[in-house]
Amino acid sequence: MAAPESDSECLFSLDPYHVSEELGFILPDPLEELPPYYQPWMDIALHVPELVHSHKLRLHINEMPLLSIQFLQKHSELRLAHLALSVMTMGYVWQEGENDTVEKLPHNLAVPYWEVSQRLGLPPILTHADAVLANWKKKDPDGPFDMENLELLVSLPGGDSVRGFFMVTLLVELAAVPALRNIPTVINGVRCGDTEAVATALEEISQSMQDMTDALKLMHDYVDPSVFYGIMRIYLSGWKDNTSMPKGLVYEGVQEEPIEYSGGSAAQSSLLHCFDELLGIKHEETSGEFLTRMRNYMPPAHKQLIQDISLQPSLKGFVQQQASERLNQAFQRCVKKLLALRSYHIKVVSRYITVPAARARQLRNQSRESEQEMISRAPTALEERGTGGSGIMSFLKTVRNQTKDTLLPETGKQK
Ligand code: HEM
Repeated sequence: MAAPESDSECLFSLDPYHVSEELGFILPDPLEELPPYYQPWMDIALHVPELVHSHKLRLHINEMPLLSIQFLQKHSELRLAHLALSVMTMGYVWQEGENDTVEKLPHNLAVPYWEVSQRLGLPPILTHADAVLANWKKKDPDGPFDMENLELLVSLPGGDSVRGFFMVTLLVELAAVPALRNIPTVINGVRCGDTEAVATALEEISQSMQDMTDALKLMHDYVDPSVFYGIMRIYLSGWKDNTSMPKGLVYEGVQEEPIEYSGGSAAQSSLLHCFDELLGIKHEETSGEFLTRMRNYMPPAHKQLIQDISLQPSLKGFVQQQASERLNQAFQRCVKKLLALRSYHIKVVSRYITVPAARARQLRNQSRESEQEMISRAPTALEERGTGGSGIMSFLKTVRNQTKDTLLPETGKQK
């Protein structure tokens, strides 16, 4: 990609980073179909939940022809191909649950998947950029961008909760668009010492963060915790830091050694990475390493944006130098809103993972009858870990506390 500006005289802009004015990191108008040559892929990708349910997905994939990727030209074609091959891969690996995984992905899937991934700069596993950012369409093209009018292009086992999970996450991405749009205003304002412009932009970013938290609340209306924990989660899981697949996965025809990749997680969303860099929030040690690794699961242009924000003059330093009460408060409010978003997210994780995990443990220690319950059959390897492979609660609380550390010392006047 073109080198973004490096000269302090030219304005920082989102233009070089594949960020849409209306949709932020969301892929605008994802394609719904690939060229007809790729019909064998789409025939399977569109039916992953049913094929997993009938235990026939692996069979169908094993018999699929080996296709060349040469007829995929446009970025949107590559994104749909990556999404389709990703859901096929997750279904293939996890079709029989955590106890009957596979050691290798067959070459007719692995080779084109690898090549498409290389072209996009994404890893060959389902990422947030696939499942959320490139996996939507409007039922009525002229209708609103809301839960009622949105549907998935491809799905995974878990019925309506899958749609709910990916679509609510998409709405969180949408709610963040005004915040993204204001990042250049903050950076340019700091560069030229425009206190009022920076304060106004930070106020808008705070509002957008509040809207993200409100959008996240929709999760409770659309995603059933038992379905999420007992059915869906395994299909988002990767083959790194996962005791069900300790060696990783061999991509047949690509390389003989197994390779490890983390599973899909909104930790791969570029949003909070951008806000952290803008506000100067540092994540050190283990949590920092995990978050940094997640950047390799983002579209390269978005990863570059995070990197370039990190290279800008310090916003926090500017706020401290200016000694403007309004600017001070705007900065504090922004950090507090991000803190509140992270705290609310921890509550969501508790409801969708910690509580069902405790219930599953309890049920497994009880009668056989209750073993029929969905959550008691959930993968045990994932009890303490996120799909991205992190040790969940200690990780999330560390990240939240590191956010708190960025607050300025209270002067007594700030709210
Ligand atoms: C049912 C809903 C959700 C659950 C159960 C959940 C679970 C998790 C877990 C377990 C982690 C730890 C990292 C990992 O191993 O993957 C994580 C991290 C993270 N999640 Fe979620 N998540 C949910 C929804 C969301 C949504 C909608 C967003 C917003 C885009 C989000 C944003 C993040 C971020 C940014 C991180 C990295 C930690 C941080 O920066 O604070 N999550 N999530």
